[in-house]
This record gives sequence, structure tokens and C-alpha cells, in this order.
Amino acid sequence: MAEFLTANDKRTAYCAEISTDDLGKRVCVMGWVQKQRDLGALIFIDLRDRTGIIQLAFDDKTDKDIFDTAFGIRAEYTLCAKGVVRRRGEGAVNKNLPTGEIEIAVDELKILSVSATPPFEIVENSNVNAELRLKYRYLDLRRADMQRNVIARSKIGKIARDYYAENGFIDIETPILCKPTPEGARDYLVPSRVHQGKFYALPQSPQLYKQLLMVSGYDRYFQIARCFRDEDLRADRQPEFTHIDTEMSFVTADDVMKMHEGFIKRLFKEYLGKTLDGDFIRMPYEEAMNRFGSDKPDLRFGFELKDLSEAVKNTEFKVFAGAVSAGGSVRGINVKGGAKFSRKEIDSLTDVAKTYRAKGLAWLKWSESGEISSSYAKFLTEQENEDIKKLLEAEQGDLLLIVADKNAVVYDSLGALRCECAKRLGLLDPMDFKFLWVTEFPLLEYSEEDGRFYAKHHPFTSPMDEDLQYLDTDPGRVRAKAYDIVLNGTELGGGSVRIHDCDIQSKMFSVLGMTEEEANDKFGYLIEAFKYGVPPHGGLAFGFDRLVTLILGLEDIRDVIAFPKVQNASELMTKSPSEPDPKGLEELGIAVVAHNE
Ligand code: AMO
Ligand code: AMP
Repeated sequence: MAEFLTANDKRTAYCAEISTDDLGKRVCVMGWVQKQRDLGALIFIDLRDRTGIIQLAFDDKTDKDIFDTAFGIRAEYTLCAKGVVRRRGEGAVNKNLPTGEIEIAVDELKILSVSATPPFEIVENSNVNAELRLKYRYLDLRRADMQRNVIARSKIGKIARDYYAENGFIDIETPILCKPTPEGARDYLVPSRVHQGKFYALPQSPQLYKQLLMVSGYDRYFQIARCFRDEDLRADRQPEFTHIDTEMSFVTADDVMKMHEGFIKRLFKEYLGKTLDGDFIRMPYEEAMNRFGSDKPDLRFGFELKDLSEAVKNTEFKVFAGAVSAGGSVRGINVKGGAKFSRKEIDSLTDVAKTYRAKGLAWLKWSESGEISSSYAKFLTEQENEDIKKLLEAEQGDLLLIVADKNAVVYDSLGALRCECAKRLGLLDPMDFKFLWVTEFPLLEYSEEDGRFYAKHHPFTSPMDEDLQYLDTDPGRVRAKAYDIVLNGTELGGGSVRIHDCDIQSKMFSVLGMTEEEANDKFGYLIEAFKYGVPPHGGLAFGFDRLVTLILGLEDIRDVIAFPKVQNASELMTKSPSEPDPKGLEELGIAVVAHNE
């Protein structure tokens, strides 16, 4: 039977806040039973709340009824306990616990609720499988490491609110039921009952609303905003996730980047006690691709890409020469210390390259003792081999990895291999934070498949002034006033200066293959709004979940989201999505015609 709290049952402290300063004081604590130890004449209960654990003690001086109650208590029972704080007995001190020197001699005890045996033990760093953890997420969230993550997220959100408020940003909510927003993923649709056959979309981001708020003169906007994108999930992606979303008026790209760099510096100082010195590096997209094979380079280690095309363009080895003559390239990386990889490990690196569409991986291993083994050396002349070694600055102990293909494939596969090798060599310290801005992104991306251009960021991103002249004639070479903030190989945030000129905006729509009518249908309200005096404006959104994940040195964003979804976008605890009530469907005028499960 559950007992109830009365007016006298007021918690005086959280468990782990009690210290030797409180010796002799009577306290009241509430929480969950971590474990109960029955030593015959003595019973100890570890009581846990979100701050940690305190020991409750029951002995020959304890009231018999209370002692008997304590005897029957099991893990995860919820208790209210009162008593006097005292030192633990000799030999009972636990140095690993902040409250390890003290205990509460309980003189009043209520079982507020009992607990069934939980499906897994509530302990830190549990190795229970992810599915079970998510099915019983409310128990998983009781674990100390999850509580730390969730509480850290709240603190980081508070620092963001403080920083942006102090810098004049106004927190404004934008609609969740809205017209599709332009981030390029699939929309989640919400059927309208009032307008049967019509749908709202859930926002992929507050992009257009925040731009309209600039038209309205709010000047600096901020929101911790939920975004929804129906896309394939990975360790750093969820179908619903959170932006620290911002927009500013009367600014250049430099102003926006400086403002947000200020936030990151403040966050690191306030949350981690770390000073990030100097300005973050700014690296044009092209340089990032050429040096790191990625637009989100991890700068914690080297292994930079080197272009070998010149040295091998006339070789007899068709794999290399063919790639160059077909307009692609041959590039390589030098994995310093990689000669220690076995043949089997190198084969698995080839598999990694293949997942990025590379047709193969050419390698050369130069062991510490000077022996060379290679998949390609025998096909090249001595001179060609020497040139490659020189260009890649090879030394004994190194592993050279080379890919010959279309540039996009070369970049993707070598970019991934550099990270994979660094991981295997143990070079990735999650608490070594290397930030940079990647700038001057291409405005557009050409899809061979669809035979048309897509906006790389979104259709409202401004071309760079000096490239505007190519927008009609050679759109592929136009760079954008877009910037991503990258941390240790993850895109933490992205933004741009927006188009605020109606002519450029309509040119942009036309390059994207949209007729005026289509543009008006999709974004007419924005086009109309821009007729009434629009300030130059730009903004940025941080992926809040990713930011918290990286600051905490974690890998999976699910660990910083209280109720995340799994790979197939379902939520295991509530079993959503689920089939709706047939009556509800009828009201919406909707019939389900196909099931894929
Ligand atoms: P973008 O699409 O680059 O920009 O999103 C900004 C940041 O949000 C994070 N992010 C995600 N995090 C978790 N799960 C996802 N599925 C996911 N998708 C994106 C990333 C990313 O850098 N409106 C623009 C911002 C702007 O221009 O101001 C936008 O949405 O960290
Ligand atoms: P092959 O002539 O196909 O047997 O290839 C000889 C070597 O070149 C093998 O080690 C292949 O893995 C490698 N190789 C094949 N295609 C490529 C490619 N596109 N880029 C780099 N190496 C490759």
C-alpha cells in the first residue's frame, strides 16, 4: 500500500547535497532505493535522487516497526525518510561516494510506492541493450549518466538563452502547423479536418517565419525550436530535433559568425571552464574538400589529401591514368603510423572505401623495418612510385591510401578513410575541441539523376556578390554567403546571409527550375512580404542535440534526448507511430490504401 505525504513531510535536502556540515542535523530526504543490504542486526539502504546517493541506516536503536519496514524494502521502492545525519561507523566509509562518510539514522520512514523488479538494474554506464533501454526509457532516464546528460542539456539551453538575450535577441515562437519549409528533406504532414484533403506540414525549421520577423523589424530573433524532417536516421540525426535558431538584421556574414562564435566561447567557458583562444579558423569549402575530402573536416589529426593526378596521369596503370583522363583525379592520404595495420585491416579499409562508391583502394604499406608491400606499386614505374611517396611525404611506418575516380567519389571515400584510420589509431580524443567555419559553399548542387540544380542550403541563401554575374550563365560556379560551424568532423550548425532583393530571388527560383507560378504557390507570402521594405538579414541554427552530444564527449544524440526515436523513426516506449482510430480517419476524409508492414 502506498503511503501519502502530509504537510509535515517536507524534503529538506537532496540526497547528495547532505555533507559532514550537516552532522547532527535532522533531515528529510525522498527518492528511490538503489539497494537494500540486510546484515541481520543492521540494515542499510542506499537512497537515490537526481543528485546522487545517501545511506539510510537502521540498527538496534531504530524503532522496531521502522526496522521491520526497512527489512521488506526492495530496489526502486520510493521512500520518504527522516533522521539525524551522523558519521558512518569505522570501516563503513565509502571513499567513492561524495556522501561516503555519513549516513542518516532513520527515525521516520514512509514507503511512498513499491516497485516491481525492474527489467534492468538502474546503474551508471549500463551495458543493457539499446532497445530495452528505450522501451523502458523512464527507467533508463533514472540512471545517473542519463540524468547528467539531460540536466546538462537544460544548463546549456539556459546559457544559450542568457547569451542571446544579453545580446538583444528576442525569443519568439513560430508555428508548428505550417506550410512546407524549404530545407530539402521530406515533410511530416498533418491532415486538416476542417479542410479535408489539405495538409499542414511540420516545420523542417522556422526558416521563413524568422525571415518574416526580420521584415517585421524584430531585428534579432532567437528560439529553441523543434524541427521535423522525415529522413533516414543516423547516430547524429533524429526525425525531430532541436535548433538553437537565430536571425539578425542589417548584418554581413562576418557579423553573424562573430556573434555565434561568441556564444560557443561563452558556453565553453561557463560550462566546461575552457577558454577557446583566438578566432575560429575560416576555411572556404573548396579548401576543405581539397585538404580533407569533406565539408566538415575533423581537424584533430592530419592525413590530409594530396593530389597525385599530375604524377600519374601518363602511367600505364589504367586505374590511375583512366580516372585522370575521364576528368576525375587520383588522390591519396598518408596514414602516419598506419603500417601497423594488418592485411585484413587494410582489406576492411577497402570495404569502407567501397561504401563510398570507390571501385577500389590502392595502398602501400612501408613497415617500421623498411619492407614495402603494396597493391599498386608493381603496376607503376620506379619513378612514378617515388613521385607518389614524395608527394605523400612517406616514411617508414606509414600507410598510403589512394583512390582514383570522379572527384566526388575520391573526396568522399578518402575523407571517410582519414577519419576511420584516425579512429582505429586512437587519435580521436572527444574532449579535444577543434572548431572551424566552413565558408563559401557552392550555392547550388547539380543532380545528375534529376538533370537539375538544387539549392545546397536553401533557396533563400544569397549568392556571393562577386559571383552574382554567373547566376544565369554558369550557376554551378556561384558560391554562397553560407557558413557552417564544424566541430571535430560534425556539422554543428549552419546558416547564411539571405537574399533580400526580389530580382535575385526570382532568378534563384528560376535556376531551381521553379516557374513564377510555382514559386508563388510555395513561397508567395515571402515574395509579397519582401515588397514592403526588407532589411539585409542572415542567421544561423545550431543543432542543439549535436552541440550537447559533443560537449559531453558522447557519440549518439539519443543520449541527450529524453525520448528519442530509433532508426526506423518509431518510439519504442509508446509504440508510435500507431494506427489511428477509424472514426478519426473518417472525419479527416482519409482512407489508408497501402501498408508497408
Ligand atoms: P540546417 O538544415 O543546416 O539549417 O540545420 C542546422 C543544424 O541542425 C542540425 N540538424 C540536425 N540535428 C539532428 N537531427 C537532424 N535530423 C538534423 N538536421 C539538421 C545540424 C545542422 O547544422 N534553417 C537553416 C538554418 C539557417 O539558415 O539559419 C537550417 O535548418 O547540426
Ligand atoms: P586491378 O587492376 O583492378 O586488380 O586493381 C589493382 C589495384 O588497384 C587493387 O589494389 C585495387 O584495389 C586498386 N584499385 C582498383 N580500382 C581503384 C580505384 N578506383 N582507386 C584506387 N585503387 C583502385
